[in-house]
Formats: sequence, C-alpha cells, structure tokens
Amino acid sequence: MILGIGTDLANIDRIQGTLDRFGDRFRNRVFTEIEQSKAERRADVAGTYAKRWAAKEACSKALGTGLAMGIAWKDMSVTNLRTGQPVMHVTGWAADRLKEMTPEGYEAIIHVTLTDDHPWAQAFVVIEARPLQDSTTQP
Ligand SMILES: CC(C)(COP(=O)(O)OP(=O)(O)OC[C@H]1O[C@@H](n2cnc3c(N)ncnc32)[C@H](O)[C@@H]1OP(=O)(O)O)[C@@H](O)C(=O)NCCC(=O)NCCS
Repeated sequence: MILGIGTDLANIDRIQGTLDRFGDRFRNRVFTEIEQSKAERRADVAGTYAKRWAAKEACSKALGTGLAMGIAWKDMSVTNLRTGQPVMHVTGWAADRLKEMTPEGYEAIIHVTLTDDHPWAQAFVVIEARPLQDSTTQP
C-alpha cells in the first residue's frame, strides 16, 4: 500500500544564488558529506544540489510533515547506486516519522526519482508499505 507521496520543483538558479551568498553555511546545514562530494565534483554543481533539495522537500511532503522551522535537513539524504539510481535515506526525526506512519507488520520503502532540465530540478517520492515476511510461516 502507498503511505505517502510528495513532489517538489526547485529552481537551479535560486540554488546557485544561495550557494553564492551563503556558501558552506548553506552546504553544511542542508547537505550531507556524500551529497556535497557528489555535487562538488560535477560540472553542474547547482543542478546536483537542486535535485537533492527537491528530494528533501518531496520526502518531507511524503512523510506528511512538510518543512517546519528548525528541521534537520540532513536527516533526509540521497545517495546513488552504481547504476546512478537515487536512494533516499532517513535518520533522526524523519526515521521516527516514517516508523510512526508504518502499520504494524509492514516495512516502509522510500522510492525517489530525480530529473533536471535547466532551470528546473524535480523530485518525486513515494513511500510504500510492504508486509513483512511472517517468519512462523517460513519452511
Ligand atoms: C538514467 C538516465 C536516463 C538519466 O537521463 P538524463 O536525462 O541524463 O538525466 P535526468 O536529468 O532526467 O535525471 C538525472 C537523474 O536520474 C537519476 N538516475 C540516473 N541513473 C538512474 C537509473 N539507472 N535509474 C533510476 N534513476 C537514475 C539520478 O538521480 C540522476 O540525478 P543525480 O545523478 O543527480 O542523482 C541516463 O543517465 C541513462 O540512460 N543512463 C544509462 C544507465 C547508465 O549509463 N548506467 C551506467 C552505470 S551501469
């Protein structure tokens, strides 16, 4: 079953402006080390950050919380598989919220997809609940 969906569209030029203005203060408040090292070695630094910004906003919507003041942005973070496919990780308050919304006997799986076409970066997040295997019925 689907527990939540979220989407966000981020403006790459606005992210570039924030990077220019606040630099490491912005980077370190919002993005994990893995996200930063991926973005900083890309040709399109701001585009890479903008996709991850959109992913965090979309994830907060799928979690049903939105982005309240003082939220720990780094508790939602994106890594990539070797194939390039993005993966969303949640820790802290976001992991607590995910646990809270997951019915007993189910595990939650977060699906995320990203795209960009200057000046826009977009993310969709879907949170799925799958029944846990009942170990008592296993051979
Ligand atoms: C996946 C692919 C279609 C993306 O197309 P694109 O138009 O260049 O890029 P978009 O702007 O639409 O999307 C980029 C995002 O797609 C996602 N993406 C990349 N590869 C993906 C994959 N295999 N599956 C799902 N999503 C993928 C990433 O999140 C990426 O952004 P990020 O690198 O900043 O995280 C393209 O990269 C492709 O065909 N790759 C072929 C697979 C490949 O070369 N794999 C190499 C390792 S096996």
